[in-house]
Amino acid sequence: MARIGVCVLGAGDMGRTHARSWSQVEGAELIAVADPDEARARKSCEDHGFDRWFTDWREALEQPGIQAVSICVPSGYHCECSTAAMGHGYHVLCEKPLAVCEEDALAMVQAAERTGVLLGVAFCKRFSNAIHKVRDIVAGGGIERPVMYRFATGWEIRFKPWIMDRRLGGGPIIDLACHYFDQWRFIFESEPVRVKASGMTFSIGAPELLGVEPEMDTATILVEHDSGDVGVISVSWGLPRGTRSGSLEDVLGPAGVISLEGLDKLTLVRSGGEEVFEGLGNDMYLDQTRAFARAVTEGAPLSTAGADGLTALRVSLAAIESARSGVAVELEGQG
Ligand SMILES: NC(=O)c1ccc[n+]([C@@H]2O[C@H](COP(=O)([O-])OP(=O)(O)OC[C@H]3O[C@@H](n4cnc5c(N)ncnc54)[C@H](O)[C@@H]3O)[C@@H](O)[C@H]2O)c1
Repeated sequence: MARIGVCVLGAGDMGRTHARSWSQVEGAELIAVADPDEARARKSCEDHGFDRWFTDWREALEQPGIQAVSICVPSGYHCECSTAAMGHGYHVLCEKPLAVCEEDALAMVQAAERTGVLLGVAFCKRFSNAIHKVRDIVAGGGIERPVMYRFATGWEIRFKPWIMDRRLGGGPIIDLACHYFDQWRFIFESEPVRVKASGMTFSIGAPELLGVEPEMDTATILVEHDSGDVGVISVSWGLPRGTRSGSLEDVLGPAGVISLEGLDKLTLVRSGGEEVFEGLGNDMYLDQTRAFARAVTEGAPLSTAGADGLTALRVSLAAIESARSGVAVELEGQG
C-alpha cells in the first residue's frame, strides 16, 4: 500500500486503539500524536512509534508529511479538531458520535465538501463479522421480514465524567445508541423515519459528576425504518456504583430469532432447529483503519462518511426530543 502519514489527536482509550491500528497498517508512517495529558501523549508515542508527541493538538497538525488524522478526543471537541485538520487538507477519520449537536455535525460535513477531503466516521461495528452475519441472515430472509432488533443494557454512572455531559459526550443516547442507529441502517438497508422515546436522568446530583451537566442517562428508544423494520434500545448509564443490569441483544422475525452474545457468537433459532455461529470476533478497529487507509490511498469507498454520522446524530437528538415532549418525532428527509 502507498505511504500514508498519520496524526492521532487524543491518547486516551480510543486514541491508543487508533494508534495501535495505524501501526499495523502497511505503508502508514506515524508522524504525530497529541494529548493535553503529557504522560499519555508521551506513552502513546513510545508504544506505537510516532515520530513526535505534543500536548498542543494544533502544533501536531503543523508537522510535515501528514495525510490522515484520527480524531479521538471527547466528542464535544470533534468539530473543532476535525475542521482544523480538514483545513490543512488532511483526510479525517473521526470517532463516533460525529458530534453532540447538529450545528457541529453540519459544519464538519460542509468542511469536508469545501476542502474535498474524506471525512470518515468510525462506526466500528460496520466492520464486525457478527454484524455482517446478522445482516446476511436478515437480507437472505432467514427470519423473514419485517424484523425487530432489540438491545438492552444498564451500567453504573460512567467513570469518565465528560461522557455524561451534554456538551462534551451527550450521554448514552448520543454516545452509545449511535452505534445502533447506524448499524440498523446497515442491517435493515433502509432509513429511519420515526423515533419515539421515554427517558430520565438518574444521575442528577451524583457526587462524581460535580461540574457536569448530565444529559439524559436512561432511555428506551424505538426507531421505525422505512422498510417496516424496527430497532429498540433500552439503556442506562445512571445506575449506582457497583451495580449493572442484565442485557439482551437479539433480532426477532416472523420465522425465527437471532440471539447475539457480544460480537463473537450468535444463534439462529427457527422452528426446524438452531444454528450456532461462533468465533466471529475480529479486530474491527484494525479492519476499519485499513479500509480508511485504502479510501485515502486507492480511492476505495468510505464505509461511513460524515452524512452517516449526521443521520445517526439526528436519530439521537430526535430520541432526546421525543423523551422530553412525550410525542414521536418524524425524521424528515431521511427516508
Ligand atoms: N468506537 C467505539 O467503540 C468507541 C469506544 C469508546 C469511545 N469512543 C469515542 O472516542 C472518543 C474518545 O473517547 P475515549 O474513550 O478515548 O476517551 P478518553 O477520555 O479515554 O480519552 C480522550 C483523550 O482526549 C484528550 N483530549 C481532550 N481534548 C483534547 C484535544 N483537544 N486534543 C487532543 N487530545 C485531547 C484527553 O486528555 C484524553 O486523554 C469519543 O468521541 C468517544 O465517544 C468510541
